[in-house]
Amino acid sequence: MPEILIINGPNLNLTGRREPDVYGTRSMDEIIANVRAHFEGHATISYFQSNHEGHIIDRLHAAGFGAVQGIVLNAGAYTHTSLAIADAIAAIATPVVEVHMSNVAAREPIRRTSLIAPVCRGTITGLGPAVYSLAVAALLEPEL
Ligand code: DQA
Repeated sequence: MPEILIINGPNLNLTGRREPDVYGTRSMDEIIANVRAHFEGHATISYFQSNHEGHIIDRLHAAGFGAVQGIVLNAGAYTHTSLAIADAIAAIATPVVEVHMSNVAAREPIRRTSLIAPVCRGTITGLGPAVYSLAVAALLEPEL
């Protein structure tokens, strides 16, 4: 069975309690459980969250050379600031899909810039927790 790794960056551990008007009221545990239920029997969903840039980079390196079929990455605010995470995505072979629950295009100007978008296969944004399942579905397509 293919394995897809979901990586969440800083503050996403507080989803459900953090700015619920922006990120909703469901916890990340519930969101990931829903993704797992959605793909049961079709894919194994592994999950990693860190508030630390270097830990995210280490996890990308560990997964990025064939250990998993694809990576779903919500880099949180590092999306807009981290050249190091962008370099890590460029360095690995495994496809990475960037996701954001909020519609970053409709928020503050700094959130309209993604340093990681150019090195990801694609980006899914603004559709709430559904972005995770949509990205997994994309990564399971054979031609991606
Ligand atoms: C986010 C959007 C980012 O701008 C923000 O820093 C986050 C969450 C999202 O999922 O909408 O932490 O990636």
